[in-house]
Amino acid sequence: MIDTFVHQGKNDVVRFIQITDPHLFKSEQGELLGINTHASFRQVLTEIQQSDFSYEFVLATGDLVQDSSDEGYHHFCEGIKTLNNTVFWIPGNHDFQPKMFEILNQSNGNINPKKHILAGDHWQILMLDSQVSGVSHGYLGQYQIDWLETKLKEYPDRYSLIVLHHHILSTQSAWLDQHNLRNTHELENVLLPFKNVKGILYGHIHQQVDDEWKGYKVMATPSTCIQFKPHNHIFTLDTLQPGWREVELHADGTIKTQVKRLQQAVFLPNMQEGGY
Ligand SMILES: [Fe+2]
Repeated sequence: MIDTFVHQGKNDVVRFIQITDPHLFKSEQGELLGINTHASFRQVLTEIQQSDFSYEFVLATGDLVQDSSDEGYHHFCEGIKTLNNTVFWIPGNHDFQPKMFEILNQSNGNINPKKHILAGDHWQILMLDSQVSGVSHGYLGQYQIDWLETKLKEYPDRYSLIVLHHHILSTQSAWLDQHNLRNTHELENVLLPFKNVKGILYGHIHQQVDDEWKGYKVMATPSTCIQFKPHNHIFTLDTLQPGWREVELHADGTIKTQVKRLQQAVFLPNMQEGGY
């Protein structure tokens, strides 16, 4: 139980928010392809606070910082504190884990390092580390696969939601799909015997996906900064606004979810940029 967070649900439905890929910089003026990532992150937090969705915790699914700076992680901690709810996190390909772990753990705020959440009476959430140091694609190492299997065996009566940074379904964009999770088949094999696995949630691709794969609900969520346009084999930005995801885990094993995007401010990238 040492790596487990027990979340006592307030009622039969567990509600949480996912934010992903803020790509913060050392400087609050830092821009990614023309978007000030600090400003768009703060605007997402502001609009989450103004929404009437009453969530109980937050999942931050990687690429929190773009430039491996201490300050970037401190900016994340300061910003996320405004949500006044427990925040769980996993690394993305851009994160520098030693620094990320140290700063997020010492933030004295609302950030919790645990990766296994017993959410209410009916669900468990398993947060995996798919980062491969120094490259953009993802891979689940043996430790992650074994850990996942252990937790699924330990709580066979709970519905399970799997969370990772990298994508498992094609975005129909060759430039982006080369950065996918490379051992999706291993993930599939480990999940297969467990009939209560319901969903797989990720970030990384800076676009919304609500799809199904092998009977699991598959969800990807817009970044809090730049957006990538799906179905483009060469790098293409999208003018869709930064966003986040609301998720409800119901007692009968269903997942209800919707993506929200900024309404009160407009962030447009430099569309001339040819790479990421
Ligand atoms: Fe990423």
